Amino acid sequence: MNTNHLLEVRDLSVVFRIGGGLLAPRRELRAVNGVSFGIAPGETLAVVGESGSGKSTIARAVMRLIEPASGSVVLDGTDITQLTGQALRRIRPRLQMVFQDPYSSLDPSKLIRDVVAEPLVVHRRLAGAALDARVEQLLEQVGLGAYHLDRYPYEFSGGQRQRIAIARAIALEPSLLVLDEAVSALDVSTQNQILNLLADLRRAHGIAYLFISHDLGVVRHIADRVAVTYLGRIVETGPTERIFTATAHPYTEALLAAVPIPNPALQRQRRAPPLVGDIPSPLAPPPGCPFHTRCPRAMPVCSTEPPRHVPVDGGGTVACHLHD
Ligand SMILES: Nc1ncnc2c1ncn2[C@@H]1O[C@H](COP(=O)(O)OP(=O)(O)OP(=O)(O)O)[C@@H](O)[C@H]1O
Ligand code: SF4
Ligand SMILES: [Mg+2]
Repeated sequence: MNTNHLLEVRDLSVVFRIGGGLLAPRRELRAVNGVSFGIAPGETLAVVGESGSGKSTIARAVMRLIEPASGSVVLDGTDITQLTGQALRRIRPRLQMVFQDPYSSLDPSKLIRDVVAEPLVVHRRLAGAALDARVEQLLEQVGLGAYHLDRYPYEFSGGQRQRIAIARAIALEPSLLVLDEAVSALDVSTQNQILNLLADLRRAHGIAYLFISHDLGVVRHIADRVAVTYLGRIVETGPTERIFTATAHPYTEALLAAVPIPNPALQRQRRAPPLVGDIPSPLAPPPGCPFHTRCPRAMPVCSTEPPRHVPVDGGGTVACHLHD
């Protein structure tokens, strides 16, 4: 365990129990399976993987919106999975989240002023001129003028709404911001604007980010490190540059092949074909390496023995028999 970490997630597993009706037997879906990672203060870790790989479930467990089946989520030395009541409420402001859909994440009946003010009223008991000043300052920090304050969410574009959601999320000066596909619904140029805003906020306030995305291309310029997930497991981690230039896991290679490169000559040099086939059902994950049913480099051992994580030159770890 690295004691310098702000957040330390250890062996986290989340199980959903589904079915249980007359015709559907009760079954267990292991959405997150033995996941471990750490985030240092001010660091950005990206969690990347296809739809259904367990990214949002990891985020919700870190935010303590769901109970893990096992494992721990340690924030600054405190295992928050064990907290209840007052102790949990006290830690809440330190952990904030921004969601994917800018159209449903803001209460449509509230003025922007009240949307951004709410956490300050609830947790800091701010009121009057002090509250107004702080709300205006927050709006300015996310690049919106104070004249927007007395408008409703429907009057804003998707990118502006994400700015408002970010203003609300940083209102209590969290040490960690969890961003679950926070730019995925936006067009490319708006995505870049929000990524630049996040980089500015991080420089100014030292906020750490857990940045979740299905798109490796999006995380390249924002993440310090990347964790690649497949069927509820982390299959590769490492410094962002190493992940892109000395990719270790065939699944990461396949995800990279789906990221367009503006230069056609470089695009042709790519080794891996893009991903083929569907992700297997998490109700019946393949034995051995979970990726073996789709891996172009699978060997006989892959369908029986689960690979262990081993260190990779240049930093991080990989779970693949090609490397052990
Ligand atoms: N509340 C729930 N009840 C039952 N199964 C769930 C629940 N939430 C998620 N799952 C299942 O857990 C698995 C992981 O889902 P999760 O939403 O974490 O994936 P994701 O990586 O965030 O996908 P996406 O990119 O589509 O957002 C999926 O198989 C999903 O169907
Ligand atoms: S362990 Fe085998 S199947 Fe899994 S990624 Fe490595 S080579 Fe492919
Ligand atoms: Mg998700």
